[in-house]
Amino acid sequence: MSEAERPPVLRTAGLGLRIGAVPIVDDVSLAVREGEFLVVIGPNGAGKTTLFNLLSGLTPATSGSVTFAGRDVTRAAPYQRARLGLGRTFQTSSIFAGLSTRENARIAAQAHLGGSADVLRSASAARVPLERAEAALETVGLAHRAEVPAGALSHGEKRKLDLALVLCTEPRVVLLDEPTAGMAVEDIPELVAVIQRIHRDGHATVLMVEHRMDLVMGLADRMAVMHHGTLLAVDTPDRIVANETVQSAYLGDPL
Ligand SMILES: Nc1ncnc2c1ncn2[C@@H]1O[C@H](COP(=O)(O)OP(=O)(O)O)[C@@H](O)[C@H]1O
Ligand SMILES: [Mg+2]
Repeated sequence: MSEAERPPVLRTAGLGLRIGAVPIVDDVSLAVREGEFLVVIGPNGAGKTTLFNLLSGLTPATSGSVTFAGRDVTRAAPYQRARLGLGRTFQTSSIFAGLSTRENARIAAQAHLGGSADVLRSASAARVPLERAEAALETVGLAHRAEVPAGALSHGEKRKLDLALVLCTEPRVVLLDEPTAGMAVEDIPELVAVIQRIHRDGHATVLMVEHRMDLVMGLADRMAVMHHGTLLAVDTPDRIVANETVQSAYLGDPL
């Protein structure tokens, strides 16, 4: 099957969240191709985080549907979507500060594997989460910090650990909501390189909210623009930058 013929790995149809009478996310229909790197942009309050919450299941939709890997997951809980391969970054608070970086990753891998009997049965199977944890730390460039208590990691390293925890769940699709937020500018290129590695070597489809256009232009296969809860445009970065509707949504702020 060619790229174009392949069914989208993640698809929404008329997806919405209404709180009282207020539409927070409104009628979003989006199809994400397997292996795609899709960047979501839009002004503050546009509904980007809410859209990701609807995709991951953190917030149940009030209208429309979410299809993931060929299944309707609209009513599925976040852990069920995660089991199917829909990964998202955890809140930083899910890091156990007193445990080592390696142990944090091992726990994430163990939690994802669940109470799988095989894991509990034999010593060799018990190594699976540990091996997965080690591989994830290697991918994000934290292998040399495996012994360090996670609480002692720098802010940039904690962001990398966030990514490692997602990798421990062997995701097919990864949702990253502003992964570079609060990072020192000089640490950003390295984190971006890690995300690219997850995309290319991990063969993951990536959906990422990111504001820095300089960063995004070279990363995105396509960009989705959110504005007032709606999906304004989905197109290649070049065409998005040239799109007049998109430009006016930013009220003259050059993209
Ligand atoms: N649970 C909620 N109750 C009321 N308003 C909410 C809730 N969640 C989000 N909002 C509002 O929805 C809008 C979109 O928020 P959000 O998805 O966080 O935007 P973004 O991530 O694009 O900045 C904002 O105006 C926010 O205040
Ligand atoms: Mg947000």
